[in-house]
Amino acid sequence: MYSCRVLNNLYFCFCLGREKWKRDRQWYCFLVLLLMGTLILVIYNSYPQLYLPVNLWRTMKYNNTQVTGISPLDPSQAERYFVAYPHPYHFILDEPDKCQQEHPFLVLMIPVAPQDRKARDAIRSTWGGETTVLGQVVSHYFMLGLTKEGDRAEPLQEHHDLLQSDFLDSYQNLTIKTMVMLEWLALRCPSASYAMKIDSDMFLNVHNLVKMLLKAPRRGYMTGMVARGAPVLRDPNSKWFLPQEVFPEFCYPDYALGLGYVFSLDLPKKIIKASRHVKAIYIEDVYLGVCMKYLGIKLTDPPRGSLFKGVLPYWWTSCYWTSVITTILDSPQQLLFKKEKVPSAPCRK
Ligand SMILES: *[C@@H]1O[C@H](CO)[C@@H](O)[C@H](O)[C@H]1NC(C)=O
Ligand SMILES: *[C@@H]1O[C@H](CO)[C@@H](O)[C@H](O)[C@H]1NC(C)=O
Repeated sequence: MYSCRVLNNLYFCFCLGREKWKRDRQWYCFLVLLLMGTLILVIYNSYPQLYLPVNLWRTMKYNNTQVTGISPLDPSQAERYFVAYPHPYHFILDEPDKCQQEHPFLVLMIPVAPQDRKARDAIRSTWGGETTVLGQVVSHYFMLGLTKEGDRAEPLQEHHDLLQSDFLDSYQNLTIKTMVMLEWLALRCPSASYAMKIDSDMFLNVHNLVKMLLKAPRRGYMTGMVARGAPVLRDPNSKWFLPQEVFPEFCYPDYALGLGYVFSLDLPKKIIKASRHVKAIYIEDVYLGVCMKYLGIKLTDPPRGSLFKGVLPYWWTSCYWTSVITTILDSPQQLLFKKEKVPSAPCRK
């Protein structure tokens, strides 16, 4: 009781102190804990692909089909979670010689919907527009599928940065997009040192990326936001649901989140080989993780965890942009807004 005053510790006093428990204090404690609990739950639920206890609990809950009443899938339904790969897709729009001529150090590969011209323009006028960084050649390409199957109306190849293949462009087909991207890299760009797959709603600091890569291994290298020991999402309402029949393991193998990952150019060929032996699930980044595990190649953590960021913090200064490599934005258009606000000079601390 005296220690309470001495320590002047609010929590100790209210929640754990041996003083007389007053009813209102108990309620106060209860409310504070409840609020904290709710907050943690909300935050945890926002990042379902990360390793979090809530997902662990969910996974265990949904693992037990007798409790949840979800009956086992019949095989025809299980097919929905696989994609049509390997398959000989063809490029309708291609840049067959550009990469060999430019000899880039780093190639940025950006999957984007065929009709999303605005996103491409925003990227071209910001991070996609940087062609020489720290003396290294950097180039970018947009990866497209078809809007409708059989629809070959081509977006105009004005900027020589569009690659379009003849599969249906949909969320469920992202794994196909990624694998076709790897095929293109292996075929058209084998002499580049690194490639990065990056989503169109991301901010990318190319300078920091090249700086990191100049010190990175040249072979067997993949990094980004690496998820380790993430439990498989068994909640049928989840965007990334995988039934047990399709993916029996309890956890995903280590994998780099699909928002943005970097790899050395020896990997595309190896991953394509592995894909002949690993059935392709629709979750693109997890699938690459499964292939990496098959190959026995370990993922590398970035030199600092703070380089690859998920969401944009609520408060940021211009220094934030100069310290990270990636960050998720609300939309590609936010890049243009940011461009006006942020000085390009590096920050000194
Ligand atoms: C989930 O189910 C599978 C197959 O029934 C079983 O092998 C595995 O141990 C279960 N995992 C957990 C955590 O209950
Ligand atoms: C994925 O692409 C293939 C090949 O174009 C197509 O047959 C299939 O319907 C697509 N699946 C989805 C869910 O879009």
